[in-house]
Amino acid sequence: GHIYLTRPLGDVVEQFRQQLPGELRTHYTADFPPSREELLESVRGAEAIISLVTDRIDAEVLDAAGDQLKVVANVAVGYDNIDLGAAAERGVLVTNTPGVLDEAVADLTLALILATTRRVAEGDRFIRTGTEWIWSPEGYVGLDISAGATLGIVGLGRIGMAVAQRAQAFGVKIIATGRRAHDDDARSLGVSPASSLNELLSAADIVSLHCPLTEDTKHLIGAQQLQAMKPGSYLINTARGPLVDEEALADAIESGHLGGAGLDVHEFEPATNPRLRTMDSVVMLPHIGSAGDVTRNEMASLAFRNVVAALNGEKPITAVG
Ligand code: GLV
Ligand code: GLV
Repeated sequence: GHIYLTRPLGDVVEQFRQQLPGELRTHYTADFPPSREELLESVRGAEAIISLVTDRIDAEVLDAAGDQLKVVANVAVGYDNIDLGAAAERGVLVTNTPGVLDEAVADLTLALILATTRRVAEGDRFIRTGTEWIWSPEGYVGLDISAGATLGIVGLGRIGMAVAQRAQAFGVKIIATGRRAHDDDARSLGVSPASSLNELLSAADIVSLHCPLTEDTKHLIGAQQLQAMKPGSYLINTARGPLVDEEALADAIESGHLGGAGLDVHEFEPATNPRLRTMDSVVMLPHIGSAGDVTRNEMASLAFRNVVAALNGEKPITAVG
């Protein structure tokens, strides 16, 4: 059987081509994912599928591939695009790429925190209008994160820890929920555990999301949670769009309750919320958290190493589920 790669992944592909026990097939354009029909057709007879966040790998795709399919290697830390239950039922391994992208996502999280609180994108947009201006003591004043602001990290794991490390350098107070909130490592980065999401929301000037998307975390931040946030506070999302109810977020910003939001991911990607798009206090990016030059290669490399292991009957390096 062949190995189906849904999109070209640069030089890393050539590094691994020789090590693969089967022919590597891929679509020739990096700009568009295969259509549903192309995907269903291309996976037929595959022993491995290397998928990206844009590919929905569900029971239909797994069945279209056939019984010889051994592994789905997602080139992402998140794997909400894959039906884990359907894969398990068919004995198909699923792998992701944890660890190699923590620093890149944490860097982008800080970029969004600073861009929203210090109105970076808004200022840039203003300059590009070509409007005449003169420096003003009151112009573009924003939140001083280094003056005692509190950052709430929702879902402290590997990425959250990398965010905490950076935030600590800014002198920000850090509170967190999640599996590592009580770890010694977290304490040494100055992280205090919050007893609940609500406690975190009511104490933080900036709330940053770092948990996976599951059935339980869909709309983790809805109208009620947004109301629980401090007046004037900011929401940052570099995790997954559906964690946030975007209409409720638009309401909370429109009413003046929230100070703004920084969103790298969107509820209905690739669509973005038309109300949020009109708001100057919202910074929106096209899901580029892991888009560092080194990081993207490491993600592809880890996915290939997982495939090689699985096809050789070995335990993949980073299996999920
Ligand atoms: C990207 O969104 C990832 O989950 O790695
Ligand atoms: C998030 O990516 C985690 O490692 O928990």
